[in-house]
Parts: sequence; structure tokens; C-alpha cells
Amino acid sequence: MRLKTDFLVIGSGIAGLSYALKVAEQGHVIILTKKDAEESATKYAQGGIAAVTYIPDSFEKHIRDTMIAGDELNDPEIVRITITESTDRITELVDWGVIFDKTKTGLFDLGKEGGHSEYRVLHHKDQTGLAIERALLDRVRNHPNISLLEHHFAIELLTQHHLGLRVDRNTPDITCYGVYVLDVITNEIKTILARTTMLSTGGAGNVYNTTTNPPIATGDGIAMVHRARGEIKNMEFIQFHPTALFNPKDKPAFLITEALRGFGAVLKTFDGEEFMQKYDERGSLAPRDIVARAIDTEIKISGYEYVHLDCRHLGKEELILHFPTVYAKCLSIGIDISHDLIPVIPAAHYICGGIKVNEFAQSSIKRLYASGECAHTGLHGANRLASNSLLESLVFSHRAAQHSMDMAGKLMHCDEIPDWDAEGMVFNEEMILITHTVKELQGLMSSYVGIVRSNLRLQRALKRLNIIFRETEYLYKRSILDVNICELRNLINTAYLIIKMAIARKESRGLHYSLDFPREAGLIDEKKFTD
Ligand code: FAD
Ligand code: SIN
Repeated sequence: MRLKTDFLVIGSGIAGLSYALKVAEQGHVIILTKKDAEESATKYAQGGIAAVTYIPDSFEKHIRDTMIAGDELNDPEIVRITITESTDRITELVDWGVIFDKTKTGLFDLGKEGGHSEYRVLHHKDQTGLAIERALLDRVRNHPNISLLEHHFAIELLTQHHLGLRVDRNTPDITCYGVYVLDVITNEIKTILARTTMLSTGGAGNVYNTTTNPPIATGDGIAMVHRARGEIKNMEFIQFHPTALFNPKDKPAFLITEALRGFGAVLKTFDGEEFMQKYDERGSLAPRDIVARAIDTEIKISGYEYVHLDCRHLGKEELILHFPTVYAKCLSIGIDISHDLIPVIPAAHYICGGIKVNEFAQSSIKRLYASGECAHTGLHGANRLASNSLLESLVFSHRAAQHSMDMAGKLMHCDEIPDWDAEGMVFNEEMILITHTVKELQGLMSSYVGIVRSNLRLQRALKRLNIIFRETEYLYKRSILDVNICELRNLINTAYLIIKMAIARKESRGLHYSLDFPREAGLIDEKKFTD
């Protein structure tokens, strides 16, 4: 089957949905999403969305906090754009029906998270993402110009390569004409042609064996762009959230929001001693890279499997009011957080790098935009400031929408693209090979490319990955396509980019910490960022 649309969107999290609602004012939109539309990292976001609302906060303070957290590898112009446009994007979310918590006086009830110098995180209890996802999806489902195709898995970007032309990383005008997509219900591979394509496929936490990310986070968009010879950047900066609930049966790992530390919860060792002051004067609310590394060190020193988060002093009623999801989840495994310590460990949470885009979310491939976690705008630098990612998605989807609405009218569909050729493929009976390889990959990434790295570990990871890569490509070329093998390939591509970029970075910076380039944590000249 062949379908044509004006605007193609891949992904139904905050980045894809907010973009789709805007461009739908000008033309027809198809949104592809690989599971039920609601399933996304967005849905699980707890802490909230950072934005400047009231004095004493200011754009300058938010900019400074973002740059410090990012170890100054951020693009200052992108940081300025994101933060100065934050207020308009929040107003729009509220107009779309998102309800943020308010105080008794009617002002937004602002939370605080690691690395923020002010209270500035808007939230809906500890279910901010769910509130946003549902409000946006409700609008999308009711929009006459939007077709939402659930259980449709994007396989490959269409470029001039599919017209038989040679494309390599030096080809100057690689152009995206749409995608091949697998209809997971009928097993049909469809060709979708579009004037412009937006990739909003989210993160890649599943390259690691412990992650807060839902199973959809397999780096698909990043891998597709890499295979199409587009530019990818800063993949070595993987953010490990310091506090996932230690409950080995849970996959994904359940997040204990940083907002709980902003509310007064304190990290303690297994034996109940506070330890964060040893590592950073900001204590439990230091930026995530520092806290995650400190926990990793404490776990290695003590030999225990986790540390504790203590919120027993915060009051049962307040905890239930502000953190109902965390309270209920912990209670479901026998932990009453108003009486008991919470066992926590770091877990892969967010990828700061991704598809390189400019200030209008244009990738290096023409007619292809990227927004949200799969994109690298330059906002986060070497480490993302908490709750800046929902904001980044809104700002760059908005900018992409404006740019693509200007462009789309001038662009034609590329009708010459052929349909998918399935010749020579046989049924894949070797599911065990795929599931085992995924575990092998996650194991090697967690052991060798985790919170603390070294040249030796990275080189070993690359060698092992090479074997996995060759075995999987052999299998892929013979298999009738299914989601499992496609996701495995994408995970391998993503892991490769993380390792290669980690090897290339000859310093410890932000989230990339190498034993071969020792550097004391948190050492950044904060005086440079005076108000
Ligand atoms: P997602 O919301 O992940 O959506 C990706 C979409 O792409 C999904 O619909 C998926 O099905 C689809 N997709 C992927 N691949 C394909 C394919 N091949 N074909 C078709 N569809 C595909 N950030 C904050 O700012 N504040 C927070 O409080 C916060 N809390 C978080 C809590 C948790 C537990 C997690 C995991 C993340 C949190 N984050 C938070 C990060 C933030 O939620 C994400 O970075 C953000 O939601 C990403 O949005 P997105 O639209 O880019 O991707
Ligand atoms: C959290 O609630 O701790 C997650 C916030 C984020 O990842 O930005």
C-alpha cells in the first residue's frame, strides 16, 4: 500500500503530538506510532516541566543552571532560545487543557529538582507526563486533518538511495521523501510519501539492562538517521537517573522522582548515613551526573546493591498528596515511604545526544526534522538539567512546525520511490537468537559503558559489539521483517554510536566520566555565571 501526506510525524509523545497539532492547521498529517499511541516516555514523566514563571526566578538564572549542569558544553544560543520561549509554550499547554498544580493563592505550585537554583518546575502531582500526553492525544484524535496510525513501526527513511543513487556521509543533499513502515497487525510493509518528515521517536534507554525508559525506547529514529547517513552528535552523554526504585523484578525500573528530593528527601547509605555532602556542597540536590556517580561509588565501596532515600520526615499526608504514584508503587511492594527507607539505584534515563538539528529542528538531511529526546539541539551539553526535556520538545516542535509550514507548499512528493522488496527473505524461526542478543548487548553496555568508563572497557565493548553486529546483520538480511529484529538492529546502531563517541572524547565531561581522564566532580567555574 502507498500513502501520501503533507506532514509525516513518527512518534506520539510530547514532541510528535505538539508538532502535529500545529502543522495540521495547514495540511494533512499522518502520525505513525509503534504501539498504542499513549505508550511513550512522555506518559511516565513525573517531576514536571521547567519554565520561568515568577520573581525571584529569571531567564538568566535558568540559563545559568542549564549551562552549569551541562558542564558548559551546551550551545549558548540554543539555551537562550529554549528558556526565553518557555513561558509561551507553557501558556499553550494550559490552553490545550493541561492542568498544573496550583497553590491556595492560585499561583503555580513550583517544584525544585537537582541543579535548579530556584523553584521552577510546573507539575501535575507526580503524573505530569500523563496529564500532558492525555491532553495532547485527546486533541489529536479529534482533529479532522490528522490520521493516527497505531501499531505502525517505521523501518527506514526513504532517500535518493532508494532511487538507486549513491549516498554517503559526504553527499551534500541527502533528502528524505518519507518512510517504509511495518503495519504490525497485518504484517504489510507500506510506503508513506511526505512533503516533510518529523522524527520524534524518543530515547534509547533499552541499550542498558536497567532503565527507567519504557520498552519503546530503542533508539529507532537515531539509528534510522545514522543508516541514512545523517549527522548524529554527543551520544556519549547518557544520563543515569540517581534514584530508580531497587526492585530487580521491575522492567522498566520504576522512577522515584527527583522532585521528592526537591521536597526534602535525603540520600543515605545502606546503613542510614548521609553521604552526598562528601561529594558536593549541594548535597542530595546536586546535578544528576554528580549524584549518580556518588551513588555508584558508595555501592562499590559498601558492597551492598543499593542506597536509601529517606522521606520519613516529610509527613504521610503531604507525601500522598504530592507523590501519589510513588507512594502507591512503593506500598505495592511493602514499603510505606512515610515509615520506611526507599532502596534506590541509578538507572539509564535520558540520552543527551542524538540527531543533530539546528534552531528550527532541521536535521542534516533535507526535508527531515527531529524533535524531543531523539534530537540533539545543543540545549543539554554534557548533562541535561532536570525537567528541561519536556520543555525542549515543546520549543523545538513549535519551531519545526513554523519552518515546515513555510516549506511544505514548495515541496513535491517523490512518486518514483519503489515499494519495499521482500524477495529472498525467509521466515525467522530463531527468536531465541534475538532475545539472547538483546540481553548480551544490554549486559555489555551496562558493564563497560555505564556511569564510570575507561579506555579498556570501551575498547572491549566495541569488540564484543562488532560480533553481535555481524551476527545480527546476517540474520536481518534473511528474515521477514518483524519489530524485534528491527529494534535489535536499532539498539546495536545506537550502542555503536555511544561507544564510538565515548572513545573519541578524550576527557571526563558531564555524564561521560573516564578513569583515564580523572577530574574532580562538579568543578566548574560558577563565578562566570553571575546574574
Ligand atoms: P516519547 O515520549 O518517548 O515518544 C516516542 C514515540 O515514538 C512513542 O510514541 C513511540 O512509540 C514512537 N516510536 C519510537 N520508535 C518508533 C518507530 N520505529 N516507529 C513508530 N513509532 C516509533 N523529562 C522532563 O522534562 N520532566 C520529567 O519530569 C521527566 N520525567 C521522566 C520520567 C521517566 C520515567 C522517563 C522515562 C523520562 C522522563 N523525562 C522527563 C524525560 C522525558 O519524559 C522524555 O525525554 C520526553 O517525554 C521525550 O518525549 P518524545 O516525544 O521525544 O518521546
Ligand atoms: C524526575 O521526575 O526525577 C525526572 C525528571 C527528568 O527526568 O527531567
